Amino acid sequence: MKIALVGYGKMGKIIHQIALKRGHDVVATLDETPTLEKLNNPDVVIEFSSPESAFGNIKFCLENKIPVVAGTTGWLEKKPEIEKIALENETGFLYGSNFSLGVNLFFALNEKLAEMMAPFQNDYNCQLEEIHHIHKLDAPSGTAISIAEGIFKHSDYKTWKLDETQGAELGITAIREGEVPGTHSVFYRSEVDEIEIKHTAFNRNGFALGAVIAAEWLPGKVGNFGMKQVLGL
Ligand SMILES: NC(=O)c1ccc[n+]([C@@H]2O[C@H](COP(=O)([O-])OP(=O)(O)OC[C@H]3O[C@@H](n4cnc5c(N)ncnc54)[C@H](O)[C@@H]3O)[C@@H](O)[C@H]2O)c1
Repeated sequence: MKIALVGYGKMGKIIHQIALKRGHDVVATLDETPTLEKLNNPDVVIEFSSPESAFGNIKFCLENKIPVVAGTTGWLEKKPEIEKIALENETGFLYGSNFSLGVNLFFALNEKLAEMMAPFQNDYNCQLEEIHHIHKLDAPSGTAISIAEGIFKHSDYKTWKLDETQGAELGITAIREGEVPGTHSVFYRSEVDEIEIKHTAFNRNGFALGAVIAAEWLPGKVGNFGMKQVLGL
């Protein structure tokens, strides 16, 4: 497959290596707004840029009927608009707040636990925590938002906030330290005990491999997708 990488920072560079190892051609590595000429006729674009540039980049590719796998976080309020553009242009769009297999299993585990805890909401207070490297531009992480959304499906929590949990607002603590690639925990605390589930990424390779697997899966499909469909979870 011919893959164009839009955003060639920490993630773009690792994705490049993994794409080559899996036998793909990387036809463009862009650190700037794409044009058709610069994209060089790819089968699919993988977008890992910045919260400010992601929407425009993805929109441009979809309007030119190029499928997009997007991993950039921090722009999600505009995702419904992108999903509309994908459908209007009969192209595929796949967003993953986190592409690693482990985190996608963790998402499923989180939903299952939320379902089990639903009858005990008066006894247990839920709180999320995410830890990332100091260069991360957005907070909370896209992954933490996905975890919160999984909990909303099975509880009375309705929104999240960067603070302690209060009433229907699920609290997320965002910690920035060192070069941590990404650690996410869900806590249920009562007066007498605590249940914790935690995912720790050791490096970025799992995210990058998942993005390439998603890029192998997407071309030819029309509509809006996530890793759930790719991994069959
Ligand atoms: N979904 C996932 O699994 C996952 C995993 C890790 C990181 N991320 C997200 O991916 C994004 C990138 O992460 P990173 O660690 O590679 O960041 P990074 O800062 O190392 O790289 C971002 C790159 O985008 C480039 N860029 C800036 N403006 C651009 C534009 N207009 N068009 C194209 N490129 C542009 C920058 O020059 C930079 O090289 C972040 O939003 C991060 O949160 C997602």
